[in-house]
Amino acid sequence: MKVLIIGSGGREHAIAWKVAKSPKVEKIYCAPGNGGISQVAECVPIGAMEFDKLAAFAKEKEIDLTIVGMDDPLVGGVVDVFEKEGLRVFGPRKNAAILEGSKAFSKDLMKKYHIPTAAYENFDNPEAAIAYLKEKAEFPIVLKADGLALGKGVLICNTLEEAEEGVKTIMLDKKFGSAGNTLVIEEFMTGREVSVLSFVDGKTIKTMTSAQDHKRAKDGDQGLNTGGMGTFSPSPFYTKEIDEFCQKNIYQPTVDAMAAEGREFKGIIFFGLMLTEKGPKVLEYNARFGDPEAQVVIPRMKNDMVEVCEACIDGTLDQINLEFEDNAAVCVVLASDGYPVSYEKGFPIEGLENFEGKEGYYVFHAGTALKDGKIVTNGGRVLGVTAKGATLKEARKNAYAATEWIQFENKYMRHDIGKAIDEA
Ligand code: AMP
Ligand code: GLY
Repeated sequence: MKVLIIGSGGREHAIAWKVAKSPKVEKIYCAPGNGGISQVAECVPIGAMEFDKLAAFAKEKEIDLTIVGMDDPLVGGVVDVFEKEGLRVFGPRKNAAILEGSKAFSKDLMKKYHIPTAAYENFDNPEAAIAYLKEKAEFPIVLKADGLALGKGVLICNTLEEAEEGVKTIMLDKKFGSAGNTLVIEEFMTGREVSVLSFVDGKTIKTMTSAQDHKRAKDGDQGLNTGGMGTFSPSPFYTKEIDEFCQKNIYQPTVDAMAAEGREFKGIIFFGLMLTEKGPKVLEYNARFGDPEAQVVIPRMKNDMVEVCEACIDGTLDQINLEFEDNAAVCVVLASDGYPVSYEKGFPIEGLENFEGKEGYYVFHAGTALKDGKIVTNGGRVLGVTAKGATLKEARKNAYAATEWIQFENKYMRHDIGKAIDEA
């Protein structure tokens, strides 16, 4: 088979690495890809939002399967464009990717189908939002831009003044662009966060092993929100009882709700959960693998990823026995100092060869480029260093040891990825 992967981050590197292991696959392309992905796939300079060019490329190269890694093209309808051309593609159509693309939609869906989530109201009008905050809100309160905002459109406000400022930032100053045309105001919840990713074929859902992300830039969960500074898998807090509750009350009901709405979901549903005192609740849905959740979940997956993706497309996921290794993995992101605000790039990366032939150690490239035959830094998040271990503690020790194998001028990382493991 010939496979095309759409995207350019660490997640897509992990997907490409896994697809390359499939005995069915003879050639992998990635659009646009990055420096590391070019080691397992042929990178093609077509942007992830250039749907017509992507589809034309897939036709010309007779691609048998396209896997969409990123949220923007999914929400924009790349799957519909591919399907119209008779191309096989893994991911939700536009009318289903709205599960991630509109938080107002997903909140209304959860309310209608009694899926546990924080109490909320949606607003199209800033005056109405401010009136609600003055009359009804309890603080802290959470403001969310409705649309895609690179994971940055969520504001936690401790006072009325902060919340009023937040409404202005999102709805009037349009800090997140049209993502802020609608605002969700949501109850503040506390608890541990868990990411559970799943494969879905429209009717059947099979969940993957759990993971936990670290969104803040600095140690001790300080600093700004980022795309994710590191992950571990599985989460020791995601117990069998919690899983049973979520399978029954969250996962299958979400798939059934989408089908009932005429928005059959095929692809990945990523459940961002909070384990509150009153039980697990949905923080958010994503319509794709998490980044960097993929970097710890995929290396532990036993199945042939291509087979599972095809089963989702064909509606035969019920026949797949999805299996994960009985071990653990930790990913530490090596970023450019200054991320997520401003940082320099273009620095040569030393030590990548240390990972060659090392079983259970992986270096997934997020923001790198190939310049004059040398891999250089090319983004805020540069590399995801992942290691497996028999236990979470061992995986964490291995991952941090492997971070020392890599050097570049403004290398920055958190030193407490997986600290929560010690409290389990
Ligand atoms: P989201 O993009 O919706 O996952 O939000 C980003 C982050 O904001 C989450 O990972 C949580 O840490 C935090 N967050 C979102 N919604 C809430 C909420 N209702 N209560 C507390 N924290 C929240
Ligand atoms: N790591 C969080 C996300 O991919 O949205």
